[in-house]
Amino acid sequence: METLQNIAPMLATAAYIVASLLFILSLAGLSKHESAKGGIIYGVSGMALALAATSLLTVTKGWNDPTAQLGLIFIIVGLVIGATIGLWRARVVEMTGMPELIALLHSFVGVAAVLIGWNGALYHPDTPENLMGVHRAEVFIGVFIGAVTFTGSIVAYLKLSAKISSKPLMLPGKNLLNIGALVGFVALTVWYVLTPELGLLIAVTILALALGWHLVASIGGGDMPVVVSMLNSYSGWAAAAAGFLLSNDLLIVTGALVGSSGAYLSYIMCKAMNRSFISVIAGGFGIVAPTSGEEEEGEYRETDAASVAELLRNATSVVITPGYGMAVAQAQYPVADLAARLKEKGVTVRFGIHPVAGRLPGHMNVLLAEAKVPYDIVDEMDEINDDFASTSVVLVIGANDTVNPAAAEDPSSPIAGMPVLKVWEAENVIVFKRSMASGYAGVQNPLFFRDNAAMLFGDAKQRVEDILRAL
Ligand code: TAP
Repeated sequence: METLQNIAPMLATAAYIVASLLFILSLAGLSKHESAKGGIIYGVSGMALALAATSLLTVTKGWNDPTAQLGLIFIIVGLVIGATIGLWRARVVEMTGMPELIALLHSFVGVAAVLIGWNGALYHPDTPENLMGVHRAEVFIGVFIGAVTFTGSIVAYLKLSAKISSKPLMLPGKNLLNIGALVGFVALTVWYVLTPELGLLIAVTILALALGWHLVASIGGGDMPVVVSMLNSYSGWAAAAAGFLLSNDLLIVTGALVGSSGAYLSYIMCKAMNRSFISVIAGGFGIVAPTSGEEEEGEYRETDAASVAELLRNATSVVITPGYGMAVAQAQYPVADLAARLKEKGVTVRFGIHPVAGRLPGHMNVLLAEAKVPYDIVDEMDEINDDFASTSVVLVIGANDTVNPAAAEDPSSPIAGMPVLKVWEAENVIVFKRSMASGYAGVQNPLFFRDNAAMLFGDAKQRVEDILRAL
């Protein structure tokens, strides 16, 4: 046992280095469809190794010490309860419920960072006196990022699961409130480093909880995807701050990987939605409430499955642009069959995927992969946008905001400037949805009233199956 006790720290350090490498390989793998499964395996292996190494450290440290033995029991009970809940949630969650689950999971990282910060403030036996200032600053930074992540993620969860309205909260002077909170945080940190009073720690926790709530409450529904990935980034930085407090190198490295990759993903998504990155991460800083343009109402044309089948039979090229409704209807399987059937008939079929179609990054790609649609006919928005003008038929399956021409043509629209799929340039556009209701951003879609567009009402899965039968 003694030998194991002596070599355990070295073994753990070696395992942490290997786990860090596995996490980097995991991120690299996840960046492409073809290698995504491998990426998941690297990630799971890295996490299993990290847990095993940390457990080994605890076991060997606490062998003869009753307090540490109690700690070990807590770890085992925590692991069993956490793993059971995690496995159960992952099995039952619908793809459409994924973003809110992710938001909720980020809130756990936030609350863990706050608790670790508080623990570091109350109990720090190994910190040398000359480093106490640095330690106190670490405590404050950890608690601040953790508390912002915690309440921010809870609000994101409530908004995404439609438990509260997704409209942005527009408090008067909201930007000043955010800046005031940041200045307050810096002042409290300096004060705490000089005189470590518990009241200051309580004050910074409350301030950060309120800031997290306000930051995310100020962001409107359309920007929610960016918020989820931004909170992902915050949760990474919160974990890295906790790593400094616990002197755990793996937590620092993993936190930094999550923090920077989340920030980069948020940046890419902001570019895809024509939003200012700084403005979104600062809680809608500088975004003026839109003067919601005139609601366009007019005549729309309704069609039926048999006519659409006829149209498709005579088409030379077809583009399918799926959206959130395809996920709700679970229509990806008949849609994949339809694409295959048309291909057999000599029609060129491609899919056009908007970067924020659905409710989470890559949502549509995952559904289409599930239904075994070949990757080479699935194109990103930029790859396909110039080809709509030469397309015979576009099938808009449960998409709405991502094909809204108002984003490109109406500067007063709440989604003005967001790049969209230019489906209206095609010869014929068929819109599959159940009613004339608006999409996630709550704005009317003038596409429905265009001369070349027709509505095919009903559940997307049933309508696609009707078309397959008619074909
Ligand atoms: P949306 O604009 O949300 O429109 C989805 C449409 O699907 C709705 O208009 C709805 O109309 C229809 N629908 C719902 N259930 C259906 C069913 N069973 N059968 C047929 N149609 C059905 O979708 P989108 O174009 O994919 O745009 C995504 C929106 O979500 C964007 O505003 C985006 O910013 C936001 N968002 C995206 C993400 C990410 S990262 N992707 C995360 C959060 C939010 P009916 O009710 O009339 O059927």
